[in-house]
Amino acid sequence: MLPNYTPYKNLPPLAGLCSIEDATKPGLPLDECVRRLKRFHYCFRRLHEILTARITSEPIYELKTAFAHHAYLCAEHVTALRQRIGEMREPPLGLEDVPHPALEVFFDEIRAAPTTEDLVEGYRVAIDQLYHVIRNYQDETHPLTDAPSRRVLKFAALEVNDMANWGAYVMSCLVEPDSKRETQLEEWGRYLGSLLDAAGTMDGTRESPPTAVGGLPRHYSATPYTYDPIPQRDERFADLWNQGVNAEAFLYDETKPARAKVLMMLFKRLREIDVPEMMAGIIAQTPGKPWGYYRDMSRQVWDEARHAMMGEVGFVALGVDWTKARITWNWSYRLNTECSPLERHGVLFFIEQGLMPRTGKRYEFEVASESGIPIATTIQDFDWADEVLHSQIGREWYVKQFGSLQEALDFGDKAWTKITSNWTTVKEQGLTAHANWWPAIYEQACASAGVNPDPAVLAYAETYEGKRADLKGVVGE
Ligand SMILES: [Fe+2]
Ligand SMILES: [Fe+2]
Repeated sequence: MLPNYTPYKNLPPLAGLCSIEDATKPGLPLDECVRRLKRFHYCFRRLHEILTARITSEPIYELKTAFAHHAYLCAEHVTALRQRIGEMREPPLGLEDVPHPALEVFFDEIRAAPTTEDLVEGYRVAIDQLYHVIRNYQDETHPLTDAPSRRVLKFAALEVNDMANWGAYVMSCLVEPDSKRETQLEEWGRYLGSLLDAAGTMDGTRESPPTAVGGLPRHYSATPYTYDPIPQRDERFADLWNQGVNAEAFLYDETKPARAKVLMMLFKRLREIDVPEMMAGIIAQTPGKPWGYYRDMSRQVWDEARHAMMGEVGFVALGVDWTKARITWNWSYRLNTECSPLERHGVLFFIEQGLMPRTGKRYEFEVASESGIPIATTIQDFDWADEVLHSQIGREWYVKQFGSLQEALDFGDKAWTKITSNWTTVKEQGLTAHANWWPAIYEQACASAGVNPDPAVLAYAETYEGKRADLKGVVGE
């Protein structure tokens, strides 16, 4: 090494990447980088798939929304890695190949985990390992020659670290320390660890034992996994078939005050938890699309989960216990069990197109502004922007499967017509009495604001009886 070599005026050398001394040491060969990056890509892809597939059937709202979030983050890292691998002298890319059969079993097992705790523990083990192997890569690859990969992985490591912390924290909330359950979960974690050993660790940097190849024992995934389309909710969501309060009819009634309309909008936002429940199934049951489809659809799933959480936040801000409202699953339950994935996508697109005209998202934003409730304005401002994006995603991935926009809309409209009102059926079956929850919500908001309820607003009792949930184009996802 040249002694006393210094950069001009002691400026940071090598564009600020690292010291000259560090850069004189050799790094990983390019082929080894590509091999490892492909493993990371596979891991993110499988985690995206697993988290998405479990959104619908996960009962706990905080986890359902977090799965939507983390699935989207994984999708972004898949996208970045695909691009980077494509820059590394590599066609054919082989990005759809399974890097090692034991790694496939590892993720299949997590996907088939029988309970929420098993699922999150499996996810935690996976994401912990992924963080570890990304860090190893960062240490071992050359900081100058492989700077583009290091940049991509720097972002990945930041978010993977957040995800790992989330997983550990969730487990500490769900599982009693030193309980029998904890012991069972530790055993599950060890089994997953043995699968990673068989795969030569997550990044394949160790030899996999010869016994591991072929004949790997499957536990939960011994029976092939199928996506569970039935939505589940935790106990805060009661009376799930209730269609007793027609939020749209109130919202578009010119005689109603804006502050009360905000409550109906917050209800509509929170009710949007049914959109991730429904869209997750479209993704899970539509294989073979270009990667961009999954990335964009996952972004929308995450947006819709955020919209639901915006509703939650708004209610809390206004001093309202939202569990007194009835956050129905009617929409996701019925679409998931009565329509094909393409029909569901059609219904979604048809509804979202209806959000763009005057009665749609601009109107909701204007109502929020008029209400003088700042948090409501923030919520509707961004909800509107997200909806514009969703319309573009629909045009890209749904409409292009049809000859024209009109055909695509007609297909969605027709599919939506299949879902005839079940108002009477669910009532006769004793599933709900369609009780009017509106006064309970409105009175809380008034009490919290220190104002007297307006008798005309309090008396609101219009229901969804005989209505398609969208009032034919006037809707709320
Ligand atoms: Fe949307
Ligand atoms: Fe939305």
